[in-house]
Amino acid sequence: MLDVVVLISGSGSNLLALLRRAASPQANFRVAAVFADRPAPGLQHAENYGVPAAVVDPKQYGDRDLWGAALAAQIRKFGVSAECGLVVSAGLMRILPAAFVIEFAPRLINTHPALLPNFPGAHAVRDALAAGVTQTGVTVHHIDEGVDTGQVIAQAVVPVNPDDTEEQLHERIKERERQLLPDVVSQIAGGLLQL
Ligand code: GRF
Repeated sequence: MLDVVVLISGSGSNLLALLRRAASPQANFRVAAVFADRPAPGLQHAENYGVPAAVVDPKQYGDRDLWGAALAAQIRKFGVSAECGLVVSAGLMRILPAAFVIEFAPRLINTHPALLPNFPGAHAVRDALAAGVTQTGVTVHHIDEGVDTGQVIAQAVVPVNPDDTEEQLHERIKERERQLLPDVVSQIAGGLLQL
């Protein structure tokens, strides 16, 4: 059974998809803990599933590196490391510091609402719409020290409709994301995907 720590900032619908998959009879991973960088609404999902959850707020630390060290210390308590378990950034709107990446890579992945290397960064959906592409998608990828530059693990294509708003397109992407991310985690847990 793979122990997964999930990092969030927002509504946590990807977290919920992971919690649901982990609760299914054939599950080969469990969500060991959830951490957020702010009082994210998604933390409620962890509580509903009886999973330990906490806010590790960067504002309480002197700088990003200290915040990263505090977060790493919390995650270590759940037995997750570069050799064991998995850290999943699922909507964490923050760049993880280098020392954090070095500690957990390659067992550190992210989900991004675009087909990387297209549209990295915090406004991937808006940028795809502005570029006028007819399709975009979702990418699950390794986290490295750059912004959405880590090696791609899996991708899925999502069509863009001509009259899409950013919200509508993001929701269509997230529907796909909520399937792809648990699939990838399950494949990692089952050894079908080597990190
Ligand atoms: C996802 O689309 C994720 O890729 C992006 O932010 C969104 C988070 O959604 N970085 P949720 O909090 O899982 O609902």
